[in-house]
Amino acid sequence: PQDAAEAFAPSNIALCKYWGKRDAELNLPINNSLSVSLGHLGTRTRLESAPDGTDRVYLNGVEQAQDQPFAAKLLAFVELFRAGRALPVHVHTENNIPTAAGLASSASGFAALTLALDRWLQLGLAPEVLSAFARMGSGSACRSLFEGFVEWRDGIHDDGMDSHGVPIPARWPGLQIGLVKVATGEKAVGSRAGMQRTIETAHLYQSWPLQAAADLEKLHQAIASRDFALLGQTAEQNALSMHATMIASWPPLLYWQPESVAAMQRVWQLREAGLAVYFTMDAGPNLKLLFEVQDRPAVEAAFPGLEVVAPFGD
Ligand code: DP6
Repeated sequence: PQDAAEAFAPSNIALCKYWGKRDAELNLPINNSLSVSLGHLGTRTRLESAPDGTDRVYLNGVEQAQDQPFAAKLLAFVELFRAGRALPVHVHTENNIPTAAGLASSASGFAALTLALDRWLQLGLAPEVLSAFARMGSGSACRSLFEGFVEWRDGIHDDGMDSHGVPIPARWPGLQIGLVKVATGEKAVGSRAGMQRTIETAHLYQSWPLQAAADLEKLHQAIASRDFALLGQTAEQNALSMHATMIASWPPLLYWQPESVAAMQRVWQLREAGLAVYFTMDAGPNLKLLFEVQDRPAVEAAFPGLEVVAPFGD
């Protein structure tokens, strides 16, 4: 291996969500999903061949105990690449995602780690192959291998090597994403457990793949024709449809806090007043707003302290 190698990968926000696995070991999804990457917001990972012969994991400069999930998952992933060879490593992970934004960092984290491993071990793997590997760390990580709009195709092969991100060659200058952090309650059920519960207990889940397929078509159409209303409406309805399947699970999975609902209603009021703003939500209480650059001042006035990201620059 190299003495050291480094890589960056962006966070991503799904406009058509991944919810449900057809293979829980390999993170193979039931439905295709589509996201937009967040440019400079994400994870930078540096790998160093360990001078002390011991694996070590650091997160934002702080060493992580290896019996804790963060380091344990990360080193299990590194092991996929080492394949039993004695190659001790120090892993330095830095997230520049503002903690106040309430964004999950596992997608950018596994994507950056995959890229860094490819460089450290000088493997020279193709982007789609790296994306398929990142997927094994966390499903949504396969989309963080690419900038801009990315589709994650479900694939048909049992080994999952055809289930990876595919960049969509389209830009949308002026597209903005606003990160609304609402008050968080007790720790939510993670995506993996949440998906499994939904599949096992919610009859409503049967309609989810149909919803996702229809929304994916609409999003492609919206991106191709730069139809912002179609993009926003589709993303919002897709997120609410996913949440409907979660709420219909048993025990119920409601990720929303009162402040989440208040923020949704504020979005709907702004739309009533003629502003083109929409939202999406993942498996947590925070909203991600979708709007265009000319409406940024009006959206920021309604959501003071909003963290705004321009995925394609503005
Ligand atoms: C609601 O990718 O975090 O954010 O594959 O179990 O690691 P695992 O799940 P993860 O799930 C993301 C779910 C989502 C929707 C999405 O990002 O597509």
